[in-house]
Amino acid sequence: MTSQGLFISFEGIDGSGKSTQTKRLAKRLQQDGHEVVLTREPGGSVGAEEIRALVLKGDPDRWSAETEILLFTAARRDHLECTILPALASGKTVICDRFADSTRMYQGLSRGDLRKLVDCLHTLMIPRNPDITLLIDMDPEIGLSRAKARSTKEERFEDFGLQLQQTMRTGFLALAKEYSDRFRVIDGHGSADNIAADIYAQITAVIR
Ligand code: ADP
Ligand code: TYD
Repeated sequence: MTSQGLFISFEGIDGSGKSTQTKRLAKRLQQDGHEVVLTREPGGSVGAEEIRALVLKGDPDRWSAETEILLFTAARRDHLECTILPALASGKTVICDRFADSTRMYQGLSRGDLRKLVDCLHTLMIPRNPDITLLIDMDPEIGLSRAKARSTKEERFEDFGLQLQQTMRTGFLALAKEYSDRFRVIDGHGSADNIAADIYAQITAVIR
């Protein structure tokens, strides 16, 4: 056993309930006595939040697909160096709302097949993967309507619509099979309480 903390990531389409469930899991683990760092991507460190504004705001065509992969990877590297790795080294549990699997899906699949490029950069630049990834699986239409009901100024990816949501859902389920050792698929259609209970059961099984 090492004193390294547990690194948990959440993935899923927009509106699938990630931000709701990351908060609930953080609270529950804190009640159990764990020190928890709740963070998110893109962002999670001062530098990465600055890059978040660059990638999520402005004209949809402002970055080429390749430049966009570099920006997300740069943000992730800073997030790891400044936030995630120090927290894990001091034994804290890190809960991250989206991580590299989102780049594999969004940048890897939405503007042509760039998955190999995403994976190459990941191997070169990202020294740590999550111990466990909770994929909240959600009907794309429900996810889209929930996401649209929120007001946001981060509009750059907002108009990709239902087709992208469908591609992402299928892609995430395939990714869960590809990395079946760390992925757990959670049904996102029930009540927030029931989903939180499912997630907590998965995490306590890993902690034990
Ligand atoms: P994400 O972070 O995956 O985009 P959110 O957690 O922000 O998703 O949830 C999207 C919207 O759906 C929010 O308005 C949230 O309050 C609502 N929501 C989350 N979970 C549920 C649920 N189980 N049932 C109904 N509405 C939910
Ligand atoms: P997020 O704030 O998690 O949105 P949501 O709560 O709606 O799921 O992420 C914002 C957008 O950033 C989302 O549409 C997915 C996109 N994204 C990427 O395209 N690549 C990435 O690597 C990450 C982390 C997010």
